[in-house]
Amino acid sequence: MKKYFTTKPVAYLSAAMLLCLPFSNAVAQKQTETAKMNAFISGLMKKMTVDEKIGQLNLVTGGMAITGSVTNNGISDGVKKGAIGGIFGLYGTDNVRKMQEAAVKGTRLHIPLIFGLDVIHGHRTIFPIPLGMSTTWDLALIEQAAHIAAKEATAEGLNWVFSPMVDIARDARWGRISEGSGEDPWYGGKVAAAMVKGYQGTSMKNADAVMACVKHFALYGGAEAGREYNTVDMSRLSMYNYYLPPYKAALEAGAGSFMSSFNVVDGVPATANKWLLTDLLRKQWGFKGFVVSDYTSLNEVSNHGLGDLQTVSALALKAGLDMDMVGEGFLTTLKKSLQQGKVTQAEIDMACRRVLEAKYKLGLFDNPYKSIDPQREKTEIMTEANRKAARITAEHSFVLLKNANQILPLKKSGGSIALVGPLADNKRDMLGTWVIGGEWEKSVSVIEGIKHIVGDNVKINYARGSNITDDATFMKRLNFGPGMVWLDKQSPEDMIEDAVKAAKKSDIIVAVVGESQSMSGESSSRSDISIPESQQLMLKALAKLGKPIVIVLFNGRPLTLTWENDNAAAILNVWAPGTEAGNAIAEVLFGNYNPSGKLTTTFPRSVGQIPLYYNHLNTGRPYSTGPTKFKSNYLDISNDPLYPFGYGLSYTSFGYSNITLNKTKLKGNETLTATVTVTNKGPYAGEEVVQLYISDPAASISRPVKELKDFQKINLQAGEQKQVTFKITPQQLKFYNSQLKYDWEAGEFIVQIGTSSADTKNAKVQWAK
Ligand code: BGC
Repeated sequence: MKKYFTTKPVAYLSAAMLLCLPFSNAVAQKQTETAKMNAFISGLMKKMTVDEKIGQLNLVTGGMAITGSVTNNGISDGVKKGAIGGIFGLYGTDNVRKMQEAAVKGTRLHIPLIFGLDVIHGHRTIFPIPLGMSTTWDLALIEQAAHIAAKEATAEGLNWVFSPMVDIARDARWGRISEGSGEDPWYGGKVAAAMVKGYQGTSMKNADAVMACVKHFALYGGAEAGREYNTVDMSRLSMYNYYLPPYKAALEAGAGSFMSSFNVVDGVPATANKWLLTDLLRKQWGFKGFVVSDYTSLNEVSNHGLGDLQTVSALALKAGLDMDMVGEGFLTTLKKSLQQGKVTQAEIDMACRRVLEAKYKLGLFDNPYKSIDPQREKTEIMTEANRKAARITAEHSFVLLKNANQILPLKKSGGSIALVGPLADNKRDMLGTWVIGGEWEKSVSVIEGIKHIVGDNVKINYARGSNITDDATFMKRLNFGPGMVWLDKQSPEDMIEDAVKAAKKSDIIVAVVGESQSMSGESSSRSDISIPESQQLMLKALAKLGKPIVIVLFNGRPLTLTWENDNAAAILNVWAPGTEAGNAIAEVLFGNYNPSGKLTTTFPRSVGQIPLYYNHLNTGRPYSTGPTKFKSNYLDISNDPLYPFGYGLSYTSFGYSNITLNKTKLKGNETLTATVTVTNKGPYAGEEVVQLYISDPAASISRPVKELKDFQKINLQAGEQKQVTFKITPQQLKFYNSQLKYDWEAGEFIVQIGTSSADTKNAKVQWAK
């Protein structure tokens, strides 16, 4: 061997080795860490009884938040017996310490518990709902929001958050559309990865890092008719091309755990679906973490018709489920199944190992109390800095849907504003869905925010104007917690009259209307997605005055807004902005921040158009203009959405040049560059989300009319121009074909760059293999 080495190659070799060294060091270090972890866990598991192993698979709720219809009892005893592996819905250092001590000091093997919670858009300091965070198109802000949530959550003893929710949703009736990032698989993946990074940080062992839990695996957003917990039926092509990418992106970002979904996937409930949890997630995608069920979703496999609790628990374990949330199916049946040969010791061991590995990766075996620090609890929660970050994120999340005659921004002094609507002087509904640690009393209402900015310089004439809803049945369903929606002492007619009086005294009307907190989120599907009637009646009475109406719209989903679009002068869509709601809204209304949010979900004109999404397939008889007969359309409504994906206005306006390409004929792995010049043509500085879409008009399968492939958010001073260049490689042209092979196909592509999915400049290229 020696004779082959000469001086020169050795020199080359050492240069190359130097370059590779950091990488190979990192790989070697990871291998050593994994080997250490494996040895530690194997050693521990040798000492564990079957009961102790099964105990690790049992996740119970601590009851500080009710997120399902059954709960667990006797938790302290369960912990001491080693029958519980983790607790969720329990936080605060005192509470967590008590339980952790019971586990660490009170059990034979001192195995720590893992503490989880639904920290969905902030823990104590609440950020905009996830759908709102997605409309910022600012991945750094999203990552920061997740990091702040992790800091606050760990300051209260938590190790694990049930987020990000990455379910693609194309149906605004589904209330949980509020918890995701909208309808685009690529962008959904980007947001998912940013959140995972924000939660888990550089190492899950850090005191301020939590383990992410990607949910709901899989396809939960495809519920038929938008009805919560309903059946999903989907082709593999749709799964692979549209619904699965965000889960995969979250996995590739390093997410430590996954949660199985309530629905069936190809006929088999996700929680007991071997194809999903083992073949796809672990074998195809290489997931190394653990999978927890959703809340009693294991028990619900029986309702799906797969057998009694013992049968479905065995099925789920064999399918690759590692931890059972709340339902105690694993706890109460696995030992019997083992004795009867229905599951194997190896299967129980595998699930137990994965749960223990998660605890190890979090550093809980080194220090089970690592996040139980009363000092941090006092100083790191709801700090000024956290609130400021929440306000800035909220401002960036607002989408200006309409702004006729540049009515916005409003003047900060002079004149008068009628501030009306049930969400104007309201703290309760500022936070939105899923705010277990959120304290609505600490949120800023819209009226407070406006007063912070204008003080006495603008006369504010306030009237509530309407109830959130006058419909008694609807109200009852919304009030699953006490006092969420209430009726005013005044009659609806008197309230409207007050609003009209306030409006008559004012130059302009700001109506703060829309959905209250409990109208979206889990178990909050709606068949009518308009603003509730009580509020519409108020708006209609106000419209008769002929004064300009600015609608500040609260919503956990796209709403149908055709009347509002026709009759309001401006609509600012604010979702549910979080703790700093009022301040953020006022900053934008009065022009301290120029709105830059863009929709990540299509807004239909009517619920009858649903599902309506921008990346749909063409039909054989597409309709655009001209005679309608024998074309794909409706007799009574246009095909177009009211507001398309990617849409959102600014106080300024942006002009786009035509696209310049570096070449129009490409081959193989070449890179295409596509450049546009964007000009700020209006009077304000502003941010624009420049969007790149590509169509693949001739392929082996029918491909979407267009697909988002990239974007850049740029800042332009008034009058300023910037060139924006996108680099496009064949990687971005890939899709799953009928054989589920992921590849690109040669041919024509149409590159589209613009301000929304419906407003782009286009250029064609030919790309050969
Ligand atoms: C929801 C999950 C949530 C879990 C725990 C379930 O009902 O679907 O998203 O993480 O409860 O609260």
